[in-house]
Amino acid sequence: MSNPRKRIIVQRPGGYGAFRIDETPIEDPRPREIQVDIKACGINFADVAVRLGLYQAARGAYPICPGLEFAGVVRDPGGHSDGFKPGDRVFGASRFGAYATAINCPAEHLWHLPAGWDFARGASFPVVYLTAYHALHEVGHLRESDRVMVHSAAGGVGTALLHLLRINGNISVGVVGRPEKAASAKEAGAEFVIDKSAGDLLRRAGDISPAGYDLILDANGASTLRLSYRLLSPGGRLLIYGFASMFSHSGRKNPLKLIWYYLRTPRFNPFDLTGSNRTISGFNLIYLFDRVERFRRIMDTLLKWDSAGLIPSMPVRSFSFEDVANAHQAIESGKSVGKLVLMV
Ligand SMILES: NC(=O)c1ccc[n+]([C@@H]2O[C@H](COP(=O)([O-])OP(=O)(O)OC[C@H]3O[C@@H](n4cnc5c(N)ncnc54)[C@H](OP(=O)(O)O)[C@@H]3O)[C@@H](O)[C@H]2O)c1
Repeated sequence: MSNPRKRIIVQRPGGYGAFRIDETPIEDPRPREIQVDIKACGINFADVAVRLGLYQAARGAYPICPGLEFAGVVRDPGGHSDGFKPGDRVFGASRFGAYATAINCPAEHLWHLPAGWDFARGASFPVVYLTAYHALHEVGHLRESDRVMVHSAAGGVGTALLHLLRINGNISVGVVGRPEKAASAKEAGAEFVIDKSAGDLLRRAGDISPAGYDLILDANGASTLRLSYRLLSPGGRLLIYGFASMFSHSGRKNPLKLIWYYLRTPRFNPFDLTGSNRTISGFNLIYLFDRVERFRRIMDTLLKWDSAGLIPSMPVRSFSFEDVANAHQAIESGKSVGKLVLMV
């Protein structure tokens, strides 16, 4: 039996005009898959890279339905229900395909929606909190005494990082790109907030922590990486997990900017790393998507913290399914705070 389904498709990489909505029946779930009627899906910066054709993991996959996370209601639990039954409220992560009204999702990437969560919260949870936990605890080896700097502190991942740092008891410094985002970073838990548009990031960061920073989380790329490296304390760790500053705010690829930022991206010197006792790590969760055990373990911890009331709700701005171009425009503007979701 096949059921109707709408999907937002990027036919080929491009600007906002690249989106179209197609209507094709969804196939029956395969063994170990659960079919879910999607009610909301999260927008991530990676989706912009997918639309523009700049996401390595999506190469060769066009036409593609973007979307890495969703929340909805189980329609068909397939042959192996794994505790899921029709009508259950769930949320999950997917390797693309969540910009849709329905999805077949492997059971191991699906969780029951906690009581009290709406679909928007479920759709905005997995990517940013899994990323933040992985960054801090799996890659960053966070200690309670660490002084931590978080770039893009009012964005989706930035807010999740600050929430988890507060749970761990760390003093954190949030860096934002616009003065109007400072309040949001403060609210999320940053002890100090630096608005880098004022142009004195290095001085302000040094005033706040003269001994430097033990852990710095940077997904800007060329615009701040060199400075982040400079701000590390001896023994400090720099975590690189994105390159947002290579993007233009126009909704289109800017080849000159891409090349310029690529060339400006620092190539760190092993002699200097050794001599100054600094560590640089990078990660991209999309390439760890099959590490199911790890993600289930992390999500168990996150859901425990949530049920203990330790994770505050994240600011969420909703758009209608058809308004996907405006949702992308909002995240590309650099002005958004918290998460953006499409309501299906
Ligand atoms: N490696 C991974 O596994 C992984 C997983 C999830 C996300 N990420 C990365 O983490 C970063 C944050 O993702 P998110 O979805 O939560 O987005 P977000 O932080 O909500 O939005 C992106 C932020 O990046 C900053 N930015 C810097 N240069 C920009 C530019 N040229 N255009 C637009 N924004 C720019 C802006 O904040 P400020 O101006 O305030 O700095 C903007 O608000 C992205 O780089 C994303 O690719 C990586």
